[in-house]
Amino acid sequence: MNNTPSLSQAMQERQHTIQRLFANPVRLLAPMEGLTDPLMRQILTQIASDLGRPYDWSVSEFIRVTQHVLPAHVFYKYVPELHHDAKTASGTPIHIQLLGSEAQLMADNAAYAAELGAPAIDINFGCPAKTVNSHRGGSVLLDEPDVMYDIISAVRRAVPVNIPVSAKIRLGYTDSSRMDDIKAAIAASGADWLTIHARTKTQGYKPPAYWDKIQNFNTLDIPVIANGEIWNRAHAQNCMAQSGTTHLMLGRGAVTRPDLIVQVDANKNDIETETVLAWEDLIMHQIKFLEGIAKNDVVLVGRYKQWLAMLTKGYSEAKILWDSIKREKNKAAIISALQISAP
Ligand SMILES: Cc1cc2nc3c(=O)[nH]c(=O)nc-3n(C[C@H](O)[C@H](O)[C@H](O)COP(=O)(O)O)c2cc1C
Repeated sequence: MNNTPSLSQAMQERQHTIQRLFANPVRLLAPMEGLTDPLMRQILTQIASDLGRPYDWSVSEFIRVTQHVLPAHVFYKYVPELHHDAKTASGTPIHIQLLGSEAQLMADNAAYAAELGAPAIDINFGCPAKTVNSHRGGSVLLDEPDVMYDIISAVRRAVPVNIPVSAKIRLGYTDSSRMDDIKAAIAASGADWLTIHARTKTQGYKPPAYWDKIQNFNTLDIPVIANGEIWNRAHAQNCMAQSGTTHLMLGRGAVTRPDLIVQVDANKNDIETETVLAWEDLIMHQIKFLEGIAKNDVVLVGRYKQWLAMLTKGYSEAKILWDSIKREKNKAAIISALQISAP
């Protein structure tokens, strides 16, 4: 008897996976190259799990595809979780994001990522970086919906049928006038879901995010995930109301308030909402971050300070700590300062 699943069985399997994934509103941790990385993902997904509301999944920072199929060690460097069933220590799945402009090359890399254990492939059409855009990668492709179609459909064809393929976009490059063309390209491409950062490339990362524009994509036959400028529960509620989707991806807000994911769905009358994770409980996670793996301590301390600077927006205690360690270079001294910063 042949036990290999037929094509239609594998397609059904993927449909079931997608139905299961989106049976309830999803909450995702955004990729943020330079801000999140495997260590930060590990910490943030652990906190969410400990608080009882794990992220449904997170997406890796983009892996740039330029000239050839990347060797395995590159995929493992960006996504060491591939060694562990593509999950963080707390069990959150990590999808692999690719960025590039050559459809066949993207497809070959996606197929290899799948071979290495990627549970899903996401394609980046949102990166605003000049170096990336000048090589026709990231958000600049929003002006070339045909190329978006070519890339997504080539990736879809190349990866095993049971592996989902998604796209992450902005509303447009310089403006949102091509939204309908982008939508048509996505619809035809076979993408399994779509994440929308509700700003154009020109709008960068500045508030506001135009959540209402996401509505335009809700006629697609696939789940739509809203993203951008969600810093607290009220923003999340407004975003869901204005975008017309219940699925959210959390970005910088999740770094600033690692308990944001829990706040988002908290009962409105819950007076504890603002303090789901108290500063004293966050201290051990910061220490774990400082004890984590990095190229060297200078890098680690720099990255920690970046995080602490963001935490000052969410925690008054972080501001006090920041003032005392902002010039400190020694990791052990920072850990000691953290230990005594508990009220
Ligand atoms: C420092 C930084 C790096 C980012 N890197 C990526 C990336 O690698 N891939 C991607 O799809 N989006 C990337 N983004 C965009 C975020 O995933 C997200 O779409 C954006 O920050 C909007 O969400 P927010 O307003 O909640 O932060 C990055 C954003 C920031 C701030």
